[in-house]
Amino acid sequence: MMKDYIIKDINLAEAGKQRIEWARRHMPVLQKIKEQFESEKPLEGVNVVACLHVTVETANLIYTLKAGGANIALTASNPLSTQDDVAAALASGGIKTFAIKGENEKQYYECLEEALKIKPHVTLDDGADTIALVHSKHQELIKDIKGGCEETTTGVIRLRAMATDGALKYPVIAVNDAETKMMFDNRYGTGQSTIHGIMNATNILFAGKTIVVAGYGWCGRGVASRARGLGGNVVVVEVEPRKALEAVMDGFRVMPMMEAAKIGDLFITVTGDISVIRKEHFQAMKDQAIVCNSGHFNVEIDIPQLTKLSKEVNQIKNDVQEYVMQDDRRIYLLAEGRLVNLASAFGHPPEVMDMSFANQALAVRYINEKGRTLKNQVYRVPAEIDSRVAKLKLEAMGIEIETLTEEQDKYLHSWTLGT
Ligand code: ADE
Repeated sequence: MMKDYIIKDINLAEAGKQRIEWARRHMPVLQKIKEQFESEKPLEGVNVVACLHVTVETANLIYTLKAGGANIALTASNPLSTQDDVAAALASGGIKTFAIKGENEKQYYECLEEALKIKPHVTLDDGADTIALVHSKHQELIKDIKGGCEETTTGVIRLRAMATDGALKYPVIAVNDAETKMMFDNRYGTGQSTIHGIMNATNILFAGKTIVVAGYGWCGRGVASRARGLGGNVVVVEVEPRKALEAVMDGFRVMPMMEAAKIGDLFITVTGDISVIRKEHFQAMKDQAIVCNSGHFNVEIDIPQLTKLSKEVNQIKNDVQEYVMQDDRRIYLLAEGRLVNLASAFGHPPEVMDMSFANQALAVRYINEKGRTLKNQVYRVPAEIDSRVAKLKLEAMGIEIETLTEEQDKYLHSWTLGT
């Protein structure tokens, strides 16, 4: 039989409820969708497994899906990102919740297994762990699954690789790739929350530091711009020539990691790739360099190598580990190399998660209605949904925008009008 919850402490529920309500007030688009779901019940009887960071913002998404009639099992998408008071609030409100901050990998998968007992019709992922588990160990569930939604860049990359190999057995919407998600959540959300996490863990001054940002996608752009805003000398490390060029013209110094390793005070990885900071880089780093990651998985910093190079590892304080090298240089690792913005802070602010989760909610509705007509591929969020989310956000912010005149509209659609 399926458990009701696996959480840290149900007595934390009241604190969680207050914070969820605070976030709700900053998520007006999701609220609008919730009201619509309440009256239309588009998800009546739909079983959803949501493998997401268990935060106040996620709680509001869960309540929106519930308002639409869905039965939900929520499990964490990272062992360190759960907010235990939120898990308690959800569990006390009857949502099947399986997440404890600090759970180990075994417990993480036990929670995911428990959530799968709901027998999902739709899966919601942040990092594709549910889809990976369903495809590897629980293929018997696939026949009832209409589709999935994926929240993050890393998950979308994983799923596209599965689709290319012909291994993907149900359609997935890449919520990450919606413009109203990527341009705001990835850039302003990751930008702000990453800096917040580093400050919480270390309280270092950014002004005057050399800050190395690895990766110049939307997340890297956001982190680099916020680090510069605080007075940091930002160096960008990027492998893709167009993005590297963009970083140069945005005014950042661009160089290979081997060069950056020698001058950086603080290193932040946001690439989605493995071993971005590795043995030769640790060997070149200055004493007291700080390394952290805001990419989805804890693979961007080669922690096994860092451990091998060290004669001693000390837990200095919450989320700060000191690696003492053979030559007595000290390198500090934050949040065990897991996403520092969620492990050491609250994750992205509700104002951006409002749009990300509005896309999620509408994508769940879409996949529930259309999933059976789609191929086993990764799809973009339909443009109407993306643009509706932007319109609702502007409306909620009280911002009116210009409209085309009939003449302008005609001009844009004609090819006969030229010089
Ligand atoms: N990913 C990044 N920030 C988040 C948040 N606040 N809630 C859920 N998922 C997130």
